[in-house]
Amino acid sequence: AAQDGVSSPSLGFKPVPVSAADKVVVPDGYRVQSFIPWGTPISGDMPAFTHNGSGDDQAQQVGSHHDGMHFFPLNGSSTDGLLVLNHEYVEPRFLHAAAAGLSLDRNGFPQHADGSRDADQVIKEMNAHGITLVRVRQAESGEWGVVQDALNRRVTAQTPMRLSGPVAETDHVKTHYSPDGTMTRGTINNCAHGVTPWNTYLAAEENWAGYFANNDADIDRRQTRYGIETRETGRYQWHRADREDDMFARFDASSKGASATDDYRNEPHTFGWMVEIDPMSPDAAPVKRTHLGRFAHEGVIFAPAVEGQPVVAYSGDDARFEYIYKFVSRQPYQAATADGSLLDEGTLYVAKFNEDGSGEWLALAPGQNGLTPDNGFADLADILVNTRSAADVVGATKMDRPEWGAVDPVTGQVYFTLTNNTRREEGDEDAANPRANNNFGHIIRWQEEGSHAGERFQWDLFVLGGDQESSRDLAGNTLNDDNMFCCPDGLWIDPDRRVWIQTDVSESVMNTGIFEAFGNNQMLVANPETGEIKRFLTGPIGQEITGVVTTPDQRTMFVNVQHPGATTPADDFAAGNFISHWPEGGSAIPRSATLVITREDGGIVGA
Ligand code: FEO
Ligand code: CA
Ligand code: CA
Ligand code: CA
Repeated sequence: AAQDGVSSPSLGFKPVPVSAADKVVVPDGYRVQSFIPWGTPISGDMPAFTHNGSGDDQAQQVGSHHDGMHFFPLNGSSTDGLLVLNHEYVEPRFLHAAAAGLSLDRNGFPQHADGSRDADQVIKEMNAHGITLVRVRQAESGEWGVVQDALNRRVTAQTPMRLSGPVAETDHVKTHYSPDGTMTRGTINNCAHGVTPWNTYLAAEENWAGYFANNDADIDRRQTRYGIETRETGRYQWHRADREDDMFARFDASSKGASATDDYRNEPHTFGWMVEIDPMSPDAAPVKRTHLGRFAHEGVIFAPAVEGQPVVAYSGDDARFEYIYKFVSRQPYQAATADGSLLDEGTLYVAKFNEDGSGEWLALAPGQNGLTPDNGFADLADILVNTRSAADVVGATKMDRPEWGAVDPVTGQVYFTLTNNTRREEGDEDAANPRANNNFGHIIRWQEEGSHAGERFQWDLFVLGGDQESSRDLAGNTLNDDNMFCCPDGLWIDPDRRVWIQTDVSESVMNTGIFEAFGNNQMLVANPETGEIKRFLTGPIGQEITGVVTTPDQRTMFVNVQHPGATTPADDFAAGNFISHWPEGGSAIPRSATLVITREDGGIVGA
């Protein structure tokens, strides 16, 4: 039922059908333009995109695998601003043109006959990761274009960054590169993002563990609990390339020296954080804010800031049976002085969803909830470096892969997508994760008791994704041809309270078996009051839809299309026969890109 005085948003468009076509489909009356594909020049020498571009070229171009994104208006404009977007990872079979003398390893990364990797290819991979900041402007014609500007910038896996908060300067993060534990290099696997109340951008480090190798016999929980692999099994194998400095070598965290500052044992402890970037200060080093916890951060979402009240931020750990967290600042928010230091002091909590629809936030703080030295947690830094292990001890609820969150700007309700978890077995279900073998995922939401900083909440399930048998919407109906979806991932609530839902059916199962009925990944929009859901967009072949934001006037929407063509069969990859040629068409290599969506009548997108 609608709350008193709360308006219900309109969803005034005709839903689009599911699609298996290699194109983007939007509702009648809408226009869509593909924009800033991987390789678009934005800075420096403005090197034009070519498939065999160099590692240095890549540092001056838009990265690969577009993901979380925000539009920072310049002077409040809705036609001129900085678009800031994450680049989650790379697909080497798209990134690199075939080169003589190199063969592909089992993940498609080129290597020499002796197993070593080409240095410039590794630099290109590092520079295709990270974040793009690019000024964009709408012309009179309605088309959006890139503007060359001093604010245009790439942050990559090589960029020097500052460590801040309780873990900075501790023994956990003292490295060969930074013996005092104040600095680290680069950010990787930036999935979703957050925007602070003081208008900076936070990039999440999600599956960072897959870039590190460690062959030691006695690795501790700071690495094992996060799944760091051996030298042989890791996906990227960056440490197998050669360079005079240790830019590549640091990804092998095996012990080689007498102490951890002689080698790279502590390098992985400088990853798994949220990274703050001030888009308006292009020379400022990004800052890893360690009090938000260390895990596979999908993203972060801030509660609306209230003058004189703590700053509150929610963050999910996207892995099977991991947790949802929130950070509450110690100092109150004051608009005139607020900055990132608010994130350096406070309390990190983890969520427990009770069977009766109530919930509680359990503090991950020294001496609380069993987090004592006797139980193996020496101090706050130890708790934060080992966030997952601390959450295990306090008895938090193990979720079905928490992805994006969003906060309803009117009611304050917090929504989180739980994308799927096929390893939840019968008997392991709970009220908040009610399905064994959860192929299709669901969306949970809660209302805090009192303020966002409180320790108790009431939750319900907004929608269970799935087909016409297994799904359930807020009204108790099954989903239908106009809104069937599964594997929710991206989530955003616009200023009018439309709940935008983006899907990420894995490329390993997309368009096959029980997933065939859902077609290509898509974006839907929901009414938070009635639970009505309509399909707004379908994407090309092999991609996921992720990242969504509008200009302040809501007349232009930006949406990302990540890894089109990723379902290309292995043999076809080797032959260059991609299953998608989006966005250019013809025989072009598929490229991740941003969609620009507007209405033919210039109206509000979604209304
Ligand atoms: Fe990178 Fe959890 O999606
Ligand atoms: Ca995601
Ligand atoms: Ca993905
Ligand atoms: Ca995902």
